[in-house]
Amino acid sequence: MTGRYDVIVLGAGAAGMMCAIRAGQRGRSVLVLDHAAAPGEKIRISGGGRCNFTNIHAGPKNFLSTNPHFAKSALARFTPQDFIAMVGRHGIAWHEKTLGQLFCDDSAKDIIRMLTDEMRAAGAQLRLRTEISGIEQRAGGYRVSTSEGAFEASSLVVATGGKSIPKMGATGFAYRIAEQFGLPVVETRPGLVPLTLDPQLLQRLSPLSGIAAPAEIRHGKTAFREALLFTHRGLSGPAILQISSYWREGEDITVVIEPDIDIFALLKKAKQVNGRQSAQTALAEILPKRLAQHVVESEGISGNMADLSDKRLQQLAATIQAWSVKPSGSEGYRTAEVTLGGIDTACLDSKTMQAKSIPGLFFIGECVDVTGWLGGYNFQWAWASGHVAGEAA
Ligand code: FDA
Repeated sequence: MTGRYDVIVLGAGAAGMMCAIRAGQRGRSVLVLDHAAAPGEKIRISGGGRCNFTNIHAGPKNFLSTNPHFAKSALARFTPQDFIAMVGRHGIAWHEKTLGQLFCDDSAKDIIRMLTDEMRAAGAQLRLRTEISGIEQRAGGYRVSTSEGAFEASSLVVATGGKSIPKMGATGFAYRIAEQFGLPVVETRPGLVPLTLDPQLLQRLSPLSGIAAPAEIRHGKTAFREALLFTHRGLSGPAILQISSYWREGEDITVVIEPDIDIFALLKKAKQVNGRQSAQTALAEILPKRLAQHVVESEGISGNMADLSDKRLQQLAATIQAWSVKPSGSEGYRTAEVTLGGIDTACLDSKTMQAKSIPGLFFIGECVDVTGWLGGYNFQWAWASGHVAGEAA
């Protein structure tokens, strides 16, 4: 089997499908190739099955990249409102959960159905279970050799995602294509990922496994206020996933539990009001019981509040609100929601996502060195970068 198209898109994920829709709408003949058995598998499992499909506050500040300005153009040309309008046209009900994060009321599958319906309406063809064995640049475009034969096109759009969750078919294929064409790749690492702790600390914290609390997690000048979760491997929860994208091996993070409460002031007041109360009882008013117990025991505190000096209370508060901890690592690509780094934006045109030195070759979505925060930003980048490439390919 061979075939000639205007545009071949490699990868039927969020970015690839959006690109195919826009290119098809422009009258381009489009073929989308994917080795998976179904399109949009990451969309299907995203947001706990309800897909956090965008964030109404998405802007360049919510993305990590060697060039923080690179994402501006695409994000301005396809906005959260544009995606919300598409969702609305398909009658998909949604709600804002928190912090501008929009989720489907029903199922992430509604988003996949919307995208595949739009692709069909735009005349884009989708071929699944297709292994890609080679790419060649030829006069007039590109030849893609696959398990289903060879296909040619004048434009080739690489939308094969990053390395996160290899079990779901993530391959890092885009980086190999970049290498083949001599394009630089910014070092990749797992992002939005739980952090692990060394075995000794983990053992000490084992009674806390499963406990969640509001927290602020700080790393240098970056801080996120969301939930913290103690796990049997280390630390997780949205606040940890967010900071994990900024954290590097060997560095400390600071954990502030219940950042809206001045725990020292609260303990001092509790001592004045009821000196016969234990510190654990006082802390259990604001912290989960097990956490209150653990903190008091690990500080070696016993007796009544009246027996504790202000200095001691301050130390106790600091263990809860100024806990400096050095994670031993992260859970890696196995559980990371995204891959940081990727195709160097310096070699791409920010308006089209086309490689500056290689006409007709485009990179979009997660494989590019643009990574969003947790909260719908990564899909917004996939939609936006896919859309602008679809306008140009
Ligand atoms: P994506 O990975 O979606 O698609 C790549 C496609 O290429 C896949 O279909 C794959 O099969 C195919 N492919 C890969 N290698 C290939 C090869 N060698 N040959 C052929 N095909 C190949 N983001 C967000 O904004 N909101 C959310 O709620 C979530 N939730 C979430 C949960 C979980 C568990 C994960 C892992 C990730 C998220 N994300 C998220 C992140 C989001 O899923 C991610 O940023 C986008 O899916 C990236 O879209 P892409 O299209 O770039 O890659």
